[in-house]
Amino acid sequence: MPSLINATDLAPLPFDAYRSLPPEELATRIRAIKAEMGDALLILGHHYQQDEVIEFADLRGDSYKLSQTAAESGDCRSIVFCGVHFMAETADILTRPEVDVILPDLAAGCSMADMADLDSVEAAWSDLAEIIDVSEITPVTYINSTADLKGFCGRHGGIVCTSSNAKAVLEWSFAQRPRVLFFPDQHLGRNTARKMGIPLNNMPLWDPRLPLGGNTEEALRSSKVLLWKGHCSVHQMFKPAHIEEFRKQYPGIKVLVHPECMMSVVDAADLVGSTEYILKTVAEAPSGSQWAIGTELHLVNRLANENPDKLVKFLSPMVCMCATMYRIDPPHLAWSLENLARGTPVNIVKVPEATAHWARVALKRMLEVQ
Ligand code: 13P
Ligand code: SF4
Repeated sequence: MPSLINATDLAPLPFDAYRSLPPEELATRIRAIKAEMGDALLILGHHYQQDEVIEFADLRGDSYKLSQTAAESGDCRSIVFCGVHFMAETADILTRPEVDVILPDLAAGCSMADMADLDSVEAAWSDLAEIIDVSEITPVTYINSTADLKGFCGRHGGIVCTSSNAKAVLEWSFAQRPRVLFFPDQHLGRNTARKMGIPLNNMPLWDPRLPLGGNTEEALRSSKVLLWKGHCSVHQMFKPAHIEEFRKQYPGIKVLVHPECMMSVVDAADLVGSTEYILKTVAEAPSGSQWAIGTELHLVNRLANENPDKLVKFLSPMVCMCATMYRIDPPHLAWSLENLARGTPVNIVKVPEATAHWARVALKRMLEVQ
């Protein structure tokens, strides 16, 4: 007698069949799963996602809003995260253990997050301990980092920040200890600390490939903020010359950029803020106002479409899109949803509890900072 097959014995549906499905069929199938699963399913979408994906998100947001939503997710049993890997990890750490977090394509990473790893940060910490008292340093990781680096911060009295709360987090950090080690984004660290009045010569750059991070002992002793040598390759593309060009061509245009842009760009801009701030600022601006926006292309194109009464331009003449965010597409979304609904979930992101515990400590500190 053949044994009865139940859902848990089924192999997951393979992805290949989804690649060639027409967009309308993918959309119909995605909507059908959403209707079938109801409140048990929450689809989160980061603002950089393409329109073809974001239309299915129950909630869109910047990194802060999405992590807060995950932390407060009520009855749902599964979160499908249309974003990148560190965002799915963060959601897993902050949700109840019975909630599965799914990233539709596991190759959707973040090149900036890859610029700092636990071994290099621990090596830097012990090198620093030879020169300064590390109990005087608050480690701060940008949320764009792996869970084990968030865990490092949790274990060492540190904290996580996002682009929307970096200043408040640095203030919290300095209330604990006189110095900060900030990773992986040098630009967010520098732009934020400088706005707080910290001089550039108290912010040495730590290059993990060089002895003492490429610094003299004196530079480390006089440091207030040690900046990790990491950056976002997308935001690196915006240059002060682009701002000058726009100002010449569109007198009165306002320039609004993300704080991952380099300092010379942030200094030349009119306004700076997270993706959520950028959307809100333009949405609330008067009709007829003109904007040049320095952040990811999909967000800017959508902003232009949603604000037809304003002029919304992309700040760079080059295409600056986040190629890893773009890996989440309707075929991957439909594939992960159909597997989830039939009981053969794929691409579950699960952070081991030993790491998650300390990462959660650092994330909760962040969520408590106003
Ligand atoms: P936000 O937190 O502003 O959404 O930024 C996330 C990000 O990865 C920007 O590159
Ligand atoms: Fe990472 Fe840059 Fe993409 Fe943001 S835009 S997810 S920092 S690579």
